[in-house]
Amino acid sequence: MTDKNAQRVLVTGGAGFIGSHLCESLIADGATVTVVDDLSTGRWGNIAHLQESRRLKVIVATAADQTLMFDAVAQSDLVYHLASAVGVHLIIDRPVATVETIFHTTDAVLKACARFRKPVLLTSTSEVFGKSDAIPFREDDDVVMGATEKRRWAYACAKALDEFLALAHYHESALPVFIVRLFNTVGVRQSGRYGMVLPRFVRQALSGGPITVFGDGAQRRCFCSVHDVVRALRALPFAAEAVGKVVNIGSQEEVSITQLALRVKRLTASSSTIEYVPYEEAYGPGFDDMRRRVPDLSRVSSYIGWQPEEALDSIISALILDMATSEAGRSITSA
Ligand SMILES: NC(=O)c1ccc[n+]([C@@H]2O[C@H](COP(=O)([O-])OP(=O)(O)OC[C@H]3O[C@@H](n4cnc5c(N)ncnc54)[C@H](O)[C@@H]3O)[C@@H](O)[C@H]2O)c1
Repeated sequence: MTDKNAQRVLVTGGAGFIGSHLCESLIADGATVTVVDDLSTGRWGNIAHLQESRRLKVIVATAADQTLMFDAVAQSDLVYHLASAVGVHLIIDRPVATVETIFHTTDAVLKACARFRKPVLLTSTSEVFGKSDAIPFREDDDVVMGATEKRRWAYACAKALDEFLALAHYHESALPVFIVRLFNTVGVRQSGRYGMVLPRFVRQALSGGPITVFGDGAQRRCFCSVHDVVRALRALPFAAEAVGKVVNIGSQEEVSITQLALRVKRLTASSSTIEYVPYEEAYGPGFDDMRRRVPDLSRVSSYIGWQPEEALDSIISALILDMATSEAGRSITSA
């Protein structure tokens, strides 16, 4: 592929948080986009505004449907596979669906890409590094997985299996695959319903109720803007060096979860208190967590010259504005 802007692009999970921003960027640059999304965690509202362009086609269905995927992939030049069960709560509450959906869906997408020889970018996760403490995480580091009896690791293992399968296609038939391991990605349209921490904190702060921090709050994370992530997703399939590779995408600026709660409280000027909830209470017994997760960015920086740009305070402020506006809209409609 040489022309980045005029293509037919298939986005599974395109009605989700990251997928909707990706579709927005593709359409703005002249691409024709087909979304396959079962709306399990995504929302039609995330992409409704893109309908006007007439270059968006939405198929509400599971991307695990092999016949559908053969058809949709055949008509595309590039495939982004984002559809996945996502969010710690969902993973803890519905472990069977997590493993089945992730793996079966990826299998169907990859089979179709292999049949029609279409390049495919898969979104994996920093969870794959498991409990490793080799900070910063390099893509070729060993993974340190938790016990299979602890349900949260089902997500990491299923996504790791996706990576293995994609790389197997690359090694056996030179299918152009691109695997990105996303670290915490944040921005407007992310839902707090499935355990994502930042939108949950913002909603709690705006409502004036307690901001609930799970665990002791000293665990640290790096939050990256969805706009920065989309920039990397757009560029990677055009970087020859990235073919058949795993690539980290994320911020390297660490913040503890308590600090995050305090920043949200300050930026919302909220009177909320900060309360700590033990992991067992939040997620049930035997929950495992990792204290730190920082990406090594050497690969993405050398392949596409990428660095995150948007500062965390500006991402939080945009989210606050968006959530406050939509809350206000809801209360006017229901008044
Ligand atoms: N947001 C993050 O911080 C983060 C971090 C690491 C990895 N990721 C990965 O990025 C991708 C997108 O995540 P997101 O944060 O936008 O989550 P999201 O839940 O907003 O998006 C996932 C989308 O996939 C759809 N979906 C799920 N199963 C499907 C299926 N079988 N067929 C069709 N559609 C299906 C959902 O309805 C949703 O629209 C996922 O692959 C996720 O594993 C996200």
